[in-house]
Amino acid sequence: MAKTFVDKDTCIACGACYSTCPDVYESDDDGYAFVKLEGGLEGYVDVPEEFLSDALDAKDGCPTESVKWED
Ligand code: F3S
Repeated sequence: MAKTFVDKDTCIACGACYSTCPDVYESDDDGYAFVKLEGGLEGYVDVPEEFLSDALDAKDGCPTESVKWED
């Protein structure tokens, strides 16, 4: 199963990921992204099948490649 994580060190708070896939990615108070799924703040978490397509689009759309992915 695909797994995802957001590297906050390189996120520039552009907002693309949580606009594209709000079921998986969310903004913190400063606009930086994190994975809202359980365990998403600690490390890679499984992407539920129903969100896979949008999450992949979010990964591909991040300008700083901060949306990390593992197949
Ligand atoms: Fe940050 Fe990339 Fe999302 S810059 S807000 S992780 S699209």
